[in-house]
Amino acid sequence: MNFKFPTDFLWGGAIAANQAEGAYLEDGKGLSIVDLLPTGEKRRSIMKGNVPAFTPLATEFYPSHEAIDFYHRYPEDIALFAEMGFKALRVSIAWARIFPTGEDAQPNEAGLQFYDNLFDELLKNGIEPVVTLAHFDVPVHLIEKYGSWRSRELVTLFETYATTVFTRYKDKVKYWMTFNEINMLLHLPFLGAGLAFNEGDNIKEIQYQAAHHQLVASALAVKACHEIIPDAMIGCMLAAGSFYPYTCNPEDVFQGMEKDRESYFFIDVQSRGEYPGYAKRFFKDHELNIVMQPGDAEILKNHTVDYIGFSYYSSRTTSTDPEVIKNMTSGNVFGSVANPYLAKSEWGWTIDPKGFRITANQLHDRYQKPLFVVENGFGANDEVTPEGEVHDAYRIDYLKRHVAEMGEAIQDGVNIIGYTSWGPIDIVSASSGEMRKRYGYIYVDRNNEGHGELTRLKKKSFEWYKNVIESNGTNL
Ligand code: BG6
Repeated sequence: MNFKFPTDFLWGGAIAANQAEGAYLEDGKGLSIVDLLPTGEKRRSIMKGNVPAFTPLATEFYPSHEAIDFYHRYPEDIALFAEMGFKALRVSIAWARIFPTGEDAQPNEAGLQFYDNLFDELLKNGIEPVVTLAHFDVPVHLIEKYGSWRSRELVTLFETYATTVFTRYKDKVKYWMTFNEINMLLHLPFLGAGLAFNEGDNIKEIQYQAAHHQLVASALAVKACHEIIPDAMIGCMLAAGSFYPYTCNPEDVFQGMEKDRESYFFIDVQSRGEYPGYAKRFFKDHELNIVMQPGDAEILKNHTVDYIGFSYYSSRTTSTDPEVIKNMTSGNVFGSVANPYLAKSEWGWTIDPKGFRITANQLHDRYQKPLFVVENGFGANDEVTPEGEVHDAYRIDYLKRHVAEMGEAIQDGVNIIGYTSWGPIDIVSASSGEMRKRYGYIYVDRNNEGHGELTRLKKKSFEWYKNVIESNGTNL
């Protein structure tokens, strides 16, 4: 590619505490929601909001309990990221490492110390930490006691947590995000927000009430961040990927717009500072009674985000034709009609590099704020050859085409400040709990059943990404 990315472009990778760290009860950590998610069908059912067992069961296997043991092996992993030339690593802080129950009087010093060590190691290697406050891991105690984000209590508890970590890491972390894929709350409510439902619950109302609480909590975190770390940037995080109408039938086009708005709803509030008209109408039409406290509107208005973080894996397609919607694909938990023009991964996730450019342009047009691509990547079942190599040409192909389209978007005038591809080292899959679904440039010897020595091995894509970074995006 002739085009060079901006000189200070933040190339790197992204992981989440619950999918990488393991050590799920070590050094005083409390239980988080993901620690209750087994693999397989049960996982899916709990993620959607069916009430889980609130303590791990001896009969289940919970991949996150050990994950890839990043908690103990991070120096080795960071050395490999540094070898690839990473400028940034996106990680998350596990709320329950800092406040094991979510409402402890004092933070857990051992948990705070772990992230101090992690950030020091990153900075020593010239890697900027990009930190998400909540990545699918509400402390379990808050679910049992308050019903998680359905309760207003969580707003204050989250604010305390955010303030604690801003104060502690103010000299080390300059890029923050509040809630990972905040719109996931509508699709996998337990995973996204710890919401479990009982019979007779008004699910939509609970979801949007919880969304309101998260939006206020997010704005209060933005406020605290700006006060405590004036030279930091704090963003929101959207599971992005625009909807295409299946045909030019205006009914399909309108539905595509509405589907996009389901997601934009969150970012409209976080970035523009107020509830959009279409949301107010939605609440009215569906008779949803969303309780807002006096002062909430001002909080939302006065503390909007500095940048829009987003994940992009695929575009989505929608139709109003009952025949067409028989042909769905599973991509990224957002229901989508199969797009006849596009190929899919083994997990049914549509591959659409051009959609990345489209999505980035739409986000830019809508918000006019810097964008940060904080997730993108290709989940595949990699095989190690008898010679001990992983030939992941399919991953290189996916990433190459996406990075090229990102370059096009920048040339379109979109202000993209960085790209942290998902899972630069293999980690546990969020949606399926598998290890088999791998995203990494670095292979980890661990299988779905938890067997394997956890040793690290460079894949072919390792050298490829190193070259991309070294050439600042010209050698794809
Ligand atoms: C995003 C999440 O939805 O996609 C990550 O923020 C997740 O936590 C990633 O891992 C990829 O999804 P999966 O299910 O393939 O791990």
